[in-house]
Amino acid sequence: MLEVGRDEAKAAARVIESGELFRYGDPKAGHPNECAKFERELARKVGAEHSLLVTSGTAALVCALAGMGIGPGDEVIVPAYTFIATPLAPLTLGALPVMAEVDESLTLDPKDVEAKISRRTKAIIPVHMVGLPANMNAIMRVARRHKVKVLEDAAQAFGGKYRGRWLGSIGDMGAYSFNYFKNITAGEGGAVVTNNDEMFMRALVHHDGGLAFWPHGKPLTLPVFAGWNFRANEIQGAMLRVQLRKINGLLRSTRAQKARIMRAVGKHPKLRSIRDNDLKGACSTIAGLRFRDEEGARAFMDRLAQDRQGSWTPIDSGRHVYSNWEAIMGKAGSYHPALDAFKRPENKMSKARYEPDMCPKTLEILSRTVFLDIRPQATAAQERKRLRAIVGAADAV
Ligand SMILES: Cc1ncc(COP(=O)(O)O)c(C=O)c1O
Repeated sequence: MLEVGRDEAKAAARVIESGELFRYGDPKAGHPNECAKFERELARKVGAEHSLLVTSGTAALVCALAGMGIGPGDEVIVPAYTFIATPLAPLTLGALPVMAEVDESLTLDPKDVEAKISRRTKAIIPVHMVGLPANMNAIMRVARRHKVKVLEDAAQAFGGKYRGRWLGSIGDMGAYSFNYFKNITAGEGGAVVTNNDEMFMRALVHHDGGLAFWPHGKPLTLPVFAGWNFRANEIQGAMLRVQLRKINGLLRSTRAQKARIMRAVGKHPKLRSIRDNDLKGACSTIAGLRFRDEEGARAFMDRLAQDRQGSWTPIDSGRHVYSNWEAIMGKAGSYHPALDAFKRPENKMSKARYEPDMCPKTLEILSRTVFLDIRPQATAAQERKRLRAIVGAADAV
């Protein structure tokens, strides 16, 4: 995560002093157009035709699925290991999320995706969890074979790459989150990227039911429909432009630190790293280790804690694990029964299951994985101490 400091404060102050906090306004009359500028810069950076800044990563997922035309009667495949926002997005549009296993890379297992495809499946959402790229080549092959769309959830992976391409820019659409814990941030925020004109236009209308953008954007070539309000404001745009300029520096230091940790891990006979679909491209918010079983993973973590070094296991990460998604496991899709995707007549024939033991491989893999956070702010001495502790803990268990 980048630090938010003086540069971001200055950018936010400029917007406040201009008095133009609403994102749409006439640049000829002095409107700063920070959101529009950020969108252009983001699209150029990730190599996408279109980008749309919205209020959150969840809003980005919802607008992207709306852009794809997802609705009641459709199924959307999501990994069993992701933040609950990923399955909530199709649910809010009346569609059902279908959970598939993750593999040793902790991202969507393309084989299980194929096994979970039904004639109702309309989209797959691979999630690049903790900055780890999903196996996009295999997922795109499965999607093309079955003629379903791909929305990349790159909420946790802004800046990461897969085989040289920016995460989020490979599928039909991509979604980013800019909440406070993400690689670039404005406290809250999100964005959609795509090369598809029609999907973009639909996402645009869904994000702003008042069509505030309309006089300033391109002419609408789709019939209008009732949308929502997921509009970003100029302060978010201005802060994110600053952060976007700093992301390469952050990634250089986090990748270098991860490489040093992985070198130390690689030399130790008892330590094994998790499988990486693209080690160089990963945006490296964590270094992942895999153990034979949960007992081994927890013994290593406990030993590391004796040296006051933190680590964590993804099985303990609450609503990032499908079995802890109460609303979904309990099939409570809405406050109102008629809006509840689980109760909608269009979804009645779906065979999707929602049981805590339905993705056992995911639970097993997560429980024997240990994450070490990457800390770009650490000094060389702190890092050396940590590496010694990692090797010491592995020797001791
Ligand atoms: C994988 C994933 N998807 C979606 C989201 C939703 O993003 P936001 O919190 O900006 O709505 C998050 C946020 O933590 C996430 O981690």
